[in-house]
Amino acid sequence: MYENIILIGFMGCGKTSVGKILARQLQKKFKDIDNIIEKEQKTTITELFKSKGEDYFRSLEQKAINEITQKTGQIISTGGGLPIYSSIPNKSLVIYIETGFHVILNRLSQEERDKRPLFHDEKKALALFNERTHVYKEQADFCVDADQSIQLIVHVLVDYILDQRVL
Ligand code: S3P
Repeated sequence: MYENIILIGFMGCGKTSVGKILARQLQKKFKDIDNIIEKEQKTTITELFKSKGEDYFRSLEQKAINEITQKTGQIISTGGGLPIYSSIPNKSLVIYIETGFHVILNRLSQEERDKRPLFHDEKKALALFNERTHVYKEQADFCVDADQSIQLIVHVLVDYILDQRVL
């Protein structure tokens, strides 16, 4: 049995959208690490990167995932860098929302790119994507092909979670 379900994947793959619908369907609480950090720090991720730097943000991510997993039965969405820089507490089922880079480019509007300091430069974002993919795969207990509609992704996940009785 797992205590929580943690969604991982690159920026713009749909972790938050999938997580919200999944939580509703499974009648679980939904938590978003970036959102928790922004609320606690009373600022945006962009501002945090500018004022305190990326390392500081990474330490907040580790603290947030440690604290949130003290509770159980939640669907938790993470920022794209969390599995790279933080250790994910045991007893969590880690699901990789796997997308191609071209799908991410199509999904992210200019406004959504602007909110992500590591997505301002498309070439750098692609390099990050290529560096990180194997880490996401290594960390995941289950991968879902996310180059399809949110409804289908959620459908696959609900089937898997209920079938395996993971939560
Ligand atoms: C980051 C991803 C962002 C956010 C921050 C850094 C990353 O979250 O945590 O901008 O390093 O990939 P999303 O994956 O929700 O965009």
